[in-house]
Amino acid sequence: MTLIKHESVEAVKEAVDMIDLVSGRTQMKRSGGEWRGRCPFHDERTGSFWVNPLTKVYYCFGCQAKGDAIRFVQETEALDFAGAVEWLADRYAVTLEYEETSPDADRRRAERERLLKLLDATASFYQRFLWDAVEAEAARSYLEQRGITRESADRFRLGYASAAPDRVQKAALAREFTLGELSQAGLAARGGDRFRERLMFPLTDARGRVRGFGARQMPGGRPPKYLNTSDGSIFRKSDILYGLDHARRGIARDGAAIVVEGYTDVIMLHQHGIDRAVASMGTALTEGQVTELRRLCSTVLLAFDADAAGREASLRGMDLARSKGLNVRIVRLPGGRDPADVAGDGSGDGSGAFQQALDAAQPYLTYRVGLALDDGGTRDERYDRVRALLAAAQPSVERDDLVRTVADRLELSDDLTARLTTGPDAARSGASTTVSRVRMSPRERDEKLFLGLCLEFPKRGLDLLDSLDVAHFAEPSRWHAATVVRRHLAGELAPEEDRASQPIIAELMAVASQEATSEAVLEELFWKLRLRRTEDELKTVQQNADLSLSQQQRLQELQELRLSILETLRSR
Ligand code: CTP
Ligand code: MN
Repeated sequence: MTLIKHESVEAVKEAVDMIDLVSGRTQMKRSGGEWRGRCPFHDERTGSFWVNPLTKVYYCFGCQAKGDAIRFVQETEALDFAGAVEWLADRYAVTLEYEETSPDADRRRAERERLLKLLDATASFYQRFLWDAVEAEAARSYLEQRGITRESADRFRLGYASAAPDRVQKAALAREFTLGELSQAGLAARGGDRFRERLMFPLTDARGRVRGFGARQMPGGRPPKYLNTSDGSIFRKSDILYGLDHARRGIARDGAAIVVEGYTDVIMLHQHGIDRAVASMGTALTEGQVTELRRLCSTVLLAFDADAAGREASLRGMDLARSKGLNVRIVRLPGGRDPADVAGDGSGDGSGAFQQALDAAQPYLTYRVGLALDDGGTRDERYDRVRALLAAAQPSVERDDLVRTVADRLELSDDLTARLTTGPDAARSGASTTVSRVRMSPRERDEKLFLGLCLEFPKRGLDLLDSLDVAHFAEPSRWHAATVVRRHLAGELAPEEDRASQPIIAELMAVASQEATSEAVLEELFWKLRLRRTEDELKTVQQNADLSLSQQQRLQELQELRLSILETLRSR
């Protein structure tokens, strides 16, 4: 928690030019002593939004939004109070003072500020080097060949790192930074510069501060293709969405973000007027990134390369985005091309190829069902995959349409079609789900219901599952299901495993959903499973004609155990 001094907050409010600030979001016109424009907080044609330049407050007669400059920045930039004050202080050149929380905290803040300064200065250094140095000629023509204009390069502060071993280090030392600071900022390696002979992409946070670098090899240069700043105190790759500082406004304006994978994708899209593109930098969207987006918009459009690696990562990111309440749509690009390649096709003013792909973006469920149909396997396998998806989805027009499409594609009977949207348990057994419950053996039903209830009561479920073993289940497949459930609850499944296990989990939940359930039922089933295991073992031991001493002991143990379990069950 950073505490900004009260006087500093006041100084910021004082320095703000409210009309200038608001004009960044909506066009304002003078009207008497006040200014008026369309409200940036709701959709309207009339100008209900008023700003008083003297009192520096805004008010909307349409949606009742109101507040001061800090509130305005909090809302429009999705920042917390301190973040908004710092944002304004930056923009209106106010130096902030912080409460003396502790000498320690002050020292840490000062150190951090210095590292940020060093990173910023280094970005400028690389940038100048790109345009001035003879050795950067290849980099300049590379940019030209990729179609990145000087304007875009400047906007994203692209730079070039010299082949010399310590150019950055020397420049930094000359400015009285220390070797320790170079290393903390992720700029040093083995006594010299970490980045050499590379095209430099400064990685900035949501407020535009340089936190680290992505460094691309030159054609024919030394691998790896990209070298990034390693995670440390200032830089955490998983927290940064590349381009967000430039895309923030567009994303908030449209209520939608376009998420792509690469640096060049972002730059090219912005260059062609698509200003709400950000990049996840080649990995699945992380929790931090999703949270950041969620504050700005309600829809995420994912556009990624058609290669498999890209798809996997994006699928994982989508699941996360959806679980956080974002509406997800998938942009499919022609012929496995990167967004960067498509960005320039057509005019980019709404008729370009990328814009067309955006307009044709598929809702998440439609996309997933499409994949499940196309992923190969027998008709049965495809049916099962699709059914798991459709049964888990909320009823909707989209789902109805999909049911028809799937029935067509797989040439389903009416009966199977009808069952596409019910729980996937006992699919195609010729029984409806309620009948199939009867067709399950009592033991199968108990075991499945137990696992379904573990999912419903995860905390208790996890405890109980931890004390079970393979012998508690009548079939290995169910023990497998139990381990899947346990690992799912413990959060141990890798995202792709988690996805693969969805049919299993969906079936168990479907079984549980047919019963009136409670935690008490879960306990009871647990004891039933234990009883059956004990009785199984008893039977095995008793089958032996002559028992060894230890077997006799075990027999007695089991008999006692059985009685006590029965007692427990009866007393419940
Ligand atoms: N990336 C990374 N580290 C890597 C590989 C990739 O950080 N070793 C990130 C970068 O943000 C990169 C993105 O993943 O931009 C996508 O990777 P890739 O498709 O390989 O790169 P492109 O951006 O398409 O690069 P280019 O177009 O220059 O080939
Ligand atoms: Mn790529």
